[in-house]
Amino acid sequence: MKSPQQVLEARLAAASLQLFGSAEVQVKPCADAKHGDFQTNAAMIRAKELGKNPRELAAELAALLPEDEAFAAPVIAGPGFLNFTLKAGWLNRALATARAEGKIGVEAAASASGPVILDFSGPNVAKEMHVGHIRSTILGEALARCHRFLGHAVVTDNHLGDWGTQFGKILLGYKRHGNEADLAERPIEHLEELYQQIHEASKTDEAIQEEARGELLALQQGDAESLALWKRFVAATLAELDKIYGRLGVRFDETLGESAYNDRLEATVKELEKKGIARESEGAIAVFFDESDDKQLTDKPFLIRKSDEAFLYATTDLATVAYRVERWKPARIIYVTDGRQQLHFQQLFATVRKWGVDRVVPTALEHVWFGAILGGDKKPIKTREGKPIKLRALLDEAESRAFDIITGKRPELSEERRREIANVVGLGALKFADLGQNRNLDYVFDWNKLLAFDGNTAPYLQNGYVRIKSIFRKAVGEGIAIPGDDAQIDLQEEAEIALGKKLLALGETVRIVVAESRPHYLCIYLCELATAFHAFYEACPVLKAGVPEDVRTSRLALCALTAEALQLGLELLGIGVVEEM
Ligand code: ARG
Repeated sequence: MKSPQQVLEARLAAASLQLFGSAEVQVKPCADAKHGDFQTNAAMIRAKELGKNPRELAAELAALLPEDEAFAAPVIAGPGFLNFTLKAGWLNRALATARAEGKIGVEAAASASGPVILDFSGPNVAKEMHVGHIRSTILGEALARCHRFLGHAVVTDNHLGDWGTQFGKILLGYKRHGNEADLAERPIEHLEELYQQIHEASKTDEAIQEEARGELLALQQGDAESLALWKRFVAATLAELDKIYGRLGVRFDETLGESAYNDRLEATVKELEKKGIARESEGAIAVFFDESDDKQLTDKPFLIRKSDEAFLYATTDLATVAYRVERWKPARIIYVTDGRQQLHFQQLFATVRKWGVDRVVPTALEHVWFGAILGGDKKPIKTREGKPIKLRALLDEAESRAFDIITGKRPELSEERRREIANVVGLGALKFADLGQNRNLDYVFDWNKLLAFDGNTAPYLQNGYVRIKSIFRKAVGEGIAIPGDDAQIDLQEEAEIALGKKLLALGETVRIVVAESRPHYLCIYLCELATAFHAFYEACPVLKAGVPEDVRTSRLALCALTAEALQLGLELLGIGVVEEM
């Protein structure tokens, strides 16, 4: 079904086409419900262009709108806004349809263009995932779910760092100090130690540096022994990563690491040279930008081959774009990484534009970057020893803290049940704390805040869901039937109308999340929804004696729809619900 905003947009577009010769109209929800539900400033914008009186133009536009079952006749307001209010009958019917269809207020996008590729997580092999990877992993997964919900084809791709210069040191380390037992039992830890050993030694010893470079070169040139070892390192790391992804509910369609592009790197550099996009400079090869590309990049060449002939992160990413365009003809490629990679992606995108591979389809390239997670001291979060916090440890702590809270609240539940609930609540709280922030900002990590039941948190929303479920249990206990999907909805009180309208805004919210790659809009929406529900529940008795049956049925249906919306919204963020907590 269409959202109310989509309905209005379509009608206004037709009128605008007639009056202005263009169907482009902007519709926004009214900031203050007193003025109506939606507004457009179309008349004001056109009035400026046409040199006309905006209020008169607004009246002309309004006159072209046909009699409407969804919206009452618009009101001209202020300097020339048109304000629109939903009609009660249409709202009731739309909510009933939403309940019957099980999808609230969104029309699946007709996906004529190619899929959306989401490149996220991308940790480096032979290193444990640490807290820095959490934002990319969680943001990427939430975006993938929102895109799919709107009907877009999605390819999630884990661009593993499995071909970097670190392998020279790891291979050398393994050949010198490695052992089978440790590699089998605690692979990542062991590989990290080996890397550290060589890394430390190479700081003062040129010969070791040289040897590590030799190992890297052997690997890159396909030496059989090196390749076999490398494969084992990658497999061992992937097995560990999969455990984390499993816990987080993250799924990849593809895991094409940097190594997958190895045999395209040479040709990529050659092609860019041939096209005059890249050139030699002091033995290395780089792309240079001028005024016509991007002012900010003029003195920032993009290095694609070092003077020792090694290729770089940049080279791989260029080859990757070409591969993805060839294979998927994507509409968008979205990269989710730390904000410190902004320059890299500006350079990458500018190079791709010169190269022209993005124009074949055409493909939009987007860097979705995020800020840092800070500790109480406002510096990037670390362990007490000053080391990066391991992601696994963070997930464990979220679950164990949630377990203590649940145990405090519900000591009578079995331990197994409390653990199950704690998993959903703990990991949900962690994810929501991250997704709830505008991703471009740094945020301070605070266990108490993110696990609070009464803040803008996952537990607050999960608890709202539980409350609705307990209303149903109570109803059933009193012999009251839960209304089916075809129940009539008839909203009368202000608080229930407000809740009904909020419910129908879910689809619109997901559209904005997808357009701007900002899941925090959905987090804000869900908190507002829960607040609207509590206001409704305060003001409108549901199961109280004396409530007429049809009113009770309508209100129970509204409760059911709210529970569905909370569950759906959380699921789009990768967060679960529980039936009790
Ligand atoms: N491996 C990189 C890192 O750990 C992330 C990869 C992001 N994706 C890409 N195509 N560059 O920072």
